[in-house]
Amino acid sequence: MSIFPQGEKPIGLASDHAGFAIKKYIVNLFDEKGIKYIDFGTYGTESVDYPDFAHKLGTAIDNKECDFGIAICGTGNGINMALNKHQSVRSALCWNTEITRLTRAHNNANILTLPGRIISQQEAYDMIVVFFNTEFEGGRHQSRIDKIPCA
Ligand code: RB5
Repeated sequence: MSIFPQGEKPIGLASDHAGFAIKKYIVNLFDEKGIKYIDFGTYGTESVDYPDFAHKLGTAIDNKECDFGIAICGTGNGINMALNKHQSVRSALCWNTEITRLTRAHNNANILTLPGRIISQQEAYDMIVVFFNTEFEGGRHQSRIDKIPCA
């Protein structure tokens, strides 16, 4: 069994310039492992606004083009805030593998958001592996996440 996502749908990727290096690392990793993805940009290090890329990925989750995504900006905070405006998105800002495990198990997070200026490539790799290999526990956690969307 692969430690990487094997689902039918592509993984959505998005970053701003501050997350571009880690996104490029993930693109190369997914290419190497044969993992399907859609790269919603940005595509270079020129300064851009993270909501422009967050909303492309958030829309892809809303319209079910993607079931899961990975997003990166400098701190992870800005892109995470913009993503979580989308009703179908549960984006979790993660900085270690335990936070990552818990957000899959308890929050059924569908976007892993990373702080590109804070973490190493190895830390990103470790969190991606945990994110895609932890099942949602359901039960009491399902009723809690059912209450997240605004009316
Ligand atoms: C860009 O300089 C930086 O502000 C952005 O990547 C992010 O950290 C915002 O939350």
